[in-house]
Amino acid sequence: MKGTKYELGMIGLGVMGRNLLLNMADHGFSVAGYDKDLNKVQSLRKEAEGRPVCGADSLKDLVGHLREPRTVIMLIPAGEPVDAVIRELSPLLNSGDMIIDGGNSYFRDTDRRATELRGKNINFLGVGISGGEGGARNGPSIMPGGPKDAYERVRPVFEAIAARASNKPCVTYLGPGSAGHYVKMVHNGIEYGLMQLIAETYQLMRQSMGLTNEKLQSIYAEWNRTELSSFLVEITASIFAQKDDRTGKYLVDVILDEAGEQGTGLWTAQEAMTLGVPLPTVDLAVMMRQLSDLKEYRVNASRIQDNVGRAFQGDQDAFIEQIRNALYAAMLITYSQGMSLLRVASDTYKYNLKLEDIARIWQGGCIIRATLLEKIQIAYEAKPDLRSLLLDSGIVKDIIDRQRHLRAVVQLAVGLAIPVPGLSVSLAYMDGYRSSWLPANLIQAQRDYFGAHSYERVDAEGVFHTGWREAS
Ligand code: 6PG
Repeated sequence: MKGTKYELGMIGLGVMGRNLLLNMADHGFSVAGYDKDLNKVQSLRKEAEGRPVCGADSLKDLVGHLREPRTVIMLIPAGEPVDAVIRELSPLLNSGDMIIDGGNSYFRDTDRRATELRGKNINFLGVGISGGEGGARNGPSIMPGGPKDAYERVRPVFEAIAARASNKPCVTYLGPGSAGHYVKMVHNGIEYGLMQLIAETYQLMRQSMGLTNEKLQSIYAEWNRTELSSFLVEITASIFAQKDDRTGKYLVDVILDEAGEQGTGLWTAQEAMTLGVPLPTVDLAVMMRQLSDLKEYRVNASRIQDNVGRAFQGDQDAFIEQIRNALYAAMLITYSQGMSLLRVASDTYKYNLKLEDIARIWQGGCIIRATLLEKIQIAYEAKPDLRSLLLDSGIVKDIIDRQRHLRAVVQLAVGLAIPVPGLSVSLAYMDGYRSSWLPANLIQAQRDYFGAHSYERVDAEGVFHTGWREAS
């Protein structure tokens, strides 16, 4: 295709970039691809033969291949690599060209880059893309943020390549500035929470009932046919069926119990703390990954006293059904926390987010896609300004119908000495959220006692301080 100009440029031909590029080409968009690892460019040339795709040998070469005004999408690791590419790329672009960052960038970096590039008249979109390798290739959920008119230019591409749910593409314009990356960050925070909850149900069933991987596979597969139906429950079932090529054992049993992380869960937890939005299930999920990393110390401590995971004595099928209900309630509470953070962030950063749209575009392609998001979408459609899903009677009924199971599972787990902090804190969050009274009056009294921090009264306006007397 000598002399042809391409509609889009893709920088970064790793798993996500390459698959997204091929997805675009499948939908008839012509794309030029570049990676600093020229072997990846070579592989792309071979793989994309016969399609409207070309490989570029340098950023300059890539830019030269593009139709004006140019659109360049970056799918590279977040952080300094994004700044480095922008530094090299922006002098090669003209006013009116556009850069799209499709990685998991930190939202404050996205705001900074948008400001810098605006000064050069280059459009910048920060776009969250979820779905891993399969999603990128066959249809991800796409979370775009930035100037609306810039988004309109690439809307046809995004709508064509996105996953579909209820026959609509899982993409919509979310808001200005870093709105897209913010929503993707919270998506990942929720992802951490859900993964932790599922992992706790696994520990419970494995340690207290000694269930085999075959049994676990059939349980999660069965759960996935219920209202728990979701990508994460589905892949969990498949994981228990996978054998290891090296040993012939079940693969899950030879994987080290230390969970890694790339930072988006931690950012979500930190951000929620900063904005004063309780997000305890996500906090706990981050904390448990950190605890998992202390493997050496955990092993040593277990030698002093290994008393974790006592046997469950009772009706196993009934317990499994309780665990299923508990997981559903805790998952719903976790989404609720994440949506509340988005609500507050939308006000704070003027994103003007439409939570019903977010619940809709998360129903296909992304890692946290789940049938229960349909209910969340309905709740926000009815009341777009809802402060919390725990104020929606439909959602609350769903949780209340299962709360006795969640309570029973947490109680049993405590008795069995099996840590279920995600389930437990989800329950505590719900109980706290619907408490008309919390013991914070005592905390205010203590603060006033030792630090003269003052307090407010229930029976009078104003701020008060007391000269507290030591009780004899
Ligand atoms: C997605 C995933 C994706 C990635 C996470 C994993 O939406 O497709 O969330 O972004 O898999 O970054 O995050 P951790 O490595 O932090 O678990």
